[in-house]
Amino acid sequence: MDLQAPNTIRITCGPGLTPYLQQEVEALGYAVEGAHETAVEIRGTPADAMKLNLYLRTANHVLLLLGEFSCVGADDLYRHVSFIDWERLLSPDGYVSVMASGDSRAIDNWLFVSRKVKDAIVDRIASAAGRRPNSGPEKNAFVVNCYWAKDRCWLYLNTSGQKLSDRGYRKMPHKAPMRETLAAGVLMAAGYDGSQPLVNPMCGSGTLAIEAALIATQRAPGLLRSNFGFMHWLGFDDPTWQTLRREAHKRKEVRTQETEVKSQEQTEKRTSIIATDIDDRALRAAEQNAKTAGVDHLIRFEQCDFADTPIPEGQGIVLLNPEYGQRLGEIGALEKTYERIGDFFKQKCPGWTGWILTGNPALAKRVGLRASRRIPFFNGPIECRLLKYELYSGTREKYARENHHDTQE
Ligand SMILES: C[S@@+](CC[C@H](N)C(=O)[O-])C[C@H]1O[C@@H](n2cnc3c(N)ncnc32)[C@H](O)[C@@H]1O
Repeated sequence: MDLQAPNTIRITCGPGLTPYLQQEVEALGYAVEGAHETAVEIRGTPADAMKLNLYLRTANHVLLLLGEFSCVGADDLYRHVSFIDWERLLSPDGYVSVMASGDSRAIDNWLFVSRKVKDAIVDRIASAAGRRPNSGPEKNAFVVNCYWAKDRCWLYLNTSGQKLSDRGYRKMPHKAPMRETLAAGVLMAAGYDGSQPLVNPMCGSGTLAIEAALIATQRAPGLLRSNFGFMHWLGFDDPTWQTLRREAHKRKEVRTQETEVKSQEQTEKRTSIIATDIDDRALRAAEQNAKTAGVDHLIRFEQCDFADTPIPEGQGIVLLNPEYGQRLGEIGALEKTYERIGDFFKQKCPGWTGWILTGNPALAKRVGLRASRRIPFFNGPIECRLLKYELYSGTREKYARENHHDTQE
């Protein structure tokens, strides 16, 4: 087993995020060899896996293929997993966790499968080193993924360990926070690249505003984390990791200086990123989270009803993620809120592009404006749409003429 040779790297993501993940992976210079519902595949080395862990905003895990084999049952699985020289990868003093999944009809207990893989790993190390590593459910050390479909099995080293959406800045979640990876995908779908103002009423714990600030300053999200799966491998290449981190810091510093100069120029207006919420606990959580992420000075926070959010002159993106109501009693009040969002867009945001992420199509209708795009996303298990509204000033025809753009899109 030559771990340094280029091999398949499978990068997983949440449903709906594949196009954005593919965009990110290609922007880093990799050729995507396969795009699936919740993953993309490339070829690369462990050093490439480290780089992907550092830079990707929409990925969940970066998995490095260790082996692929045909497999007809649990004993067969144990035997194949035992062929790998795990003693070269994991110390007997280490800790291993196995995640098993797949779509085999023969399997109804994935816990049993992960236990079988774990047994094969620790038994092999015990026979080579005389001691067996600890094992359990924690994903903060050496992690192995096993995917079993029909009679085929793929075994991966999980180079990320914990999900990459766990950036480490959200110490205060407040209500219904969205995953950081989803927030990054939503911003990419809305065309946000940091060059335009962003206003985020109903900011909750601040995920969208914080991810926007990270994008605007080109901060690699992996710089916020100190622990990745690959750090727990025997022979972990720390010098390469430190070089990658230094390069990412350099990029961030150049971009941060540019952004901060812009912010100083705009101190009067402070137009770059504005985040507001009616709830002071949400605001406190958002401010604290932004501080932990090191971007609090780039976001103007304000406590107010969404309709009183200051909208700077000119153009930009105004993005809301309102509640969409799980219980019946809430829907009546939310209908009114969605109607008011439509009024807010019309009255206060002409010239801007409005975006709403919601999981309730009936409530979305209450906005009373025609969405020019409906982009599918998933917030956990809930299917959502990111709705785009062209908030033209004057007549629709005048807007279309000025923007050379078909409003019937
Ligand atoms: C679904 S949460 C947003 C979650 C956010 N995207 C995050 O990642 O944390 C909706 C937010 O809207 C806020 N909200 C509800 N009604 C509001 C209103 N009338 N004006 C401003 N904010 C409001 C709530 O306090 C809540 O924080």
